[in-house]
Amino acid sequence: QVPVWLDCDVGHDDAMALILGAYHPRIRLLGVSSVSGNAPLENTTENAVRVLQAAGIAGVKVHRGAARPLVKEARHHTKVHGASGLDGSDLLPPADYEQYLDASTNAVNAMRRAIMDSSEPVAIVAVAPLTNVALLLSVYPEVVPRIRMLSIMGGVTGTGSHRPAREFNLSSDPEALHIVLRSGIAHIALVPLDVTLSVLASRAVIDRISRTTRNPRFAQLITDLLGFSASTHADELGEGAGAPLHDPVAMLYVVMRDAFEEKHVWVDAGEDVGACNGWLRCDMDGEHALPPNCWVTTAVDTARFWDAMVGALVEASGR
Ligand code: BDR
Ligand code: CA
Repeated sequence: QVPVWLDCDVGHDDAMALILGAYHPRIRLLGVSSVSGNAPLENTTENAVRVLQAAGIAGVKVHRGAARPLVKEARHHTKVHGASGLDGSDLLPPADYEQYLDASTNAVNAMRRAIMDSSEPVAIVAVAPLTNVALLLSVYPEVVPRIRMLSIMGGVTGTGSHRPAREFNLSSDPEALHIVLRSGIAHIALVPLDVTLSVLASRAVIDRISRTTRNPRFAQLITDLLGFSASTHADELGEGAGAPLHDPVAMLYVVMRDAFEEKHVWVDAGEDVGACNGWLRCDMDGEHALPPNCWVTTAVDTARFWDAMVGALVEASGR
């Protein structure tokens, strides 16, 4: 099993990343940190706690992280995730902070402790603005050699058919990306929108989830959440396209790299860090002969993704 830390801003697709991380047979989820992103920090923390509870995930705690990006003002993705960050179902339990939140320390200290205490190098899966990760690497650079890989959901490279200009996670805190890319972590992987927009929870997928999960209430919760996400993406992706599951794709990468196509290329945050607009710069074709610093994924085997994701949901529904 690969020890994994999940940094997230739960979020519909973050919730799926959490469930995949907790129930994939080859992942040992060490802990979860929350950050300002899809919604304010208090909401993303609460949502993480509620998802842990709803999915019966025992022995994993949430740790509060940064309440705002390093330089930019906080902004939230309410158009897509609703005001709470996780709108769309009344089946989520009220948050049991006592049991699921470790309020004794913050995310940065908790990540450092988990990484330094682990007998094996840890993978970090970062599926939100990179603020917590940048703070960790700045305050505790001794963690770097103990990080086996950092898998980031973020960015857009222009290699897919759907080409939005910017992506929420990386454009929310480009200065954090700047720090992360210069940290010395040996393996940084990027799972950009170009890849994740091929992973859509369509009607057929939702039916498969309902058919296979063992607990009708849990199946309904997942159906509600995916249905809400599909509806908020309908304008952008088309009516009936489904809900894009960006974040769990970055989770899958740490244990199923062979399900991806990828290129080792040079990547950087936009030119003027300090007043950076959040564009991603990447030398995808090696035209500029810049030194590669990142594995940028360009495709994923969606059938293998869904097998892993549905498998995790079935496991969760049995708890
Ligand atoms: C990313 O932004 C958030 O809304 C999602 O949770 C995902 O991490 C996609 O651009
Ligand atoms: Ca997210």
